[in-house]
Amino acid sequence: MSGTNGEFRRSLGLMDVTFIGVGAVIGAGIFVITGQAAATMAGPAIVLSFLLGAVMIGITALIYAELSSAYPVAGSAYSFTFASLGEVFAWFVGWNLLLEYGVATAAVATGWSGYLRRFLENSMGLHIPQALSGAYNPSAGTYIDISAFGIILAIFVLLAIGIKESAKVNTAIVFIKLGVLVTFVVVGLPHVDFHNLSNFFPFGWEGVWHGASLIIFAYLGFDAISTVAEETKNPERNIPLGLILSLALSVVFFILVSFTLTAIVPYQELNVPDALAFALYKVNEPFAANVIALGAVITITTVMIVMGLGFTRIFFALARDGLLPKTLSEIHPKFNTPYKATIIGGILLSIMAGLIPLKTLAELVNIGTLFAYLMVAVAIIVLRRQNSIQPVFKIPAFKILMPLNFILIIFMMAGLPFETWLRFIGWSVIGMLIYAYYSTKRSKAE
Ligand code: ALA
Repeated sequence: MSGTNGEFRRSLGLMDVTFIGVGAVIGAGIFVITGQAAATMAGPAIVLSFLLGAVMIGITALIYAELSSAYPVAGSAYSFTFASLGEVFAWFVGWNLLLEYGVATAAVATGWSGYLRRFLENSMGLHIPQALSGAYNPSAGTYIDISAFGIILAIFVLLAIGIKESAKVNTAIVFIKLGVLVTFVVVGLPHVDFHNLSNFFPFGWEGVWHGASLIIFAYLGFDAISTVAEETKNPERNIPLGLILSLALSVVFFILVSFTLTAIVPYQELNVPDALAFALYKVNEPFAANVIALGAVITITTVMIVMGLGFTRIFFALARDGLLPKTLSEIHPKFNTPYKATIIGGILLSIMAGLIPLKTLAELVNIGTLFAYLMVAVAIIVLRRQNSIQPVFKIPAFKILMPLNFILIIFMMAGLPFETWLRFIGWSVIGMLIYAYYSTKRSKAE
């Protein structure tokens, strides 16, 4: 049975899209990476890394808000770049967004599985066998993270069944997620010990910088909102508002949580897969710690849903424009989803989540995403020069914020490890080869 190409129904409102943003943003970054970054990179000054990240991401969100109020179409940065810089750049951005959403889904799954293991062990005494409890690393006795592998498959089945169902589930879970973080802060704050903050900059400003380059992961995902523009009611208003609201909420939570975490436990102890639950155990709050672990397991799921959704929609947009095989843009007549892109994506990403560690995945996600943000920043300048857009929302203080944005993005990219740059260059070369040998011959622009 064949589906129809390229048509969605509009079913999402402002609350749905804001919660898609929060659902995508608050996840493995704050629950897992914050602890690791505090322990190994920034110490308690990780709060400053979060503030630095918030400035960069805030400006980028304003750019997305302006562009998506002018172009409410699926595909986010990819579509904006297509409109301003043309097909080659757009392909390159789309290719990196596949990396962002796809690898992020896998990365988050590995963060999720750390909390699942903690919850199963501490509340039920269940142990997942060592060989099945981590990324492929025979010297450590781990071969596959079976729970990360399984959760991705389950989520992609949900995504193949349909967006409206997924968005409803997402909204309910986001409420729980915010409740979990509030619980952490409220239970944690009475245990603050200022001795833990006395060595505030153990790794100096350089640590704050490297910390920011890694924890920027925690902020990623807000742009997933603009990938569902074609499924949103009144998108010229709801998409920009949803972007800004979801990010503002996330910043407040990140600052509160990262401060509390490093103030209740010495930062050196936080290099664990489940830092928030671990910290509450440490201060003798086992019940709250179990609530946090279970809450993390339930709620990090939304990040995978939204990131996975973004991934299938980028895949869809690239295929619809003929840059990847057209059949991937087919929409299921009953479920109203790009089901082929969803099934293939689910299989590839679950394998990745099972075999590769979180930090490696997160750094790769960051570099691809920061690159896409850079392109979007160029795109908005080109579009404004051409006077070719009539956005409903316009960025204030454009002339000051844009140069600051370029400096911050490049600074964050420069703070990532050399191996990450090599992987990024490899991914880009593969993308260029596909473009040269496949996409140019088939794309709509021909
Ligand atoms: N921002 C998302 C997370 O932290 C990717 O899980």
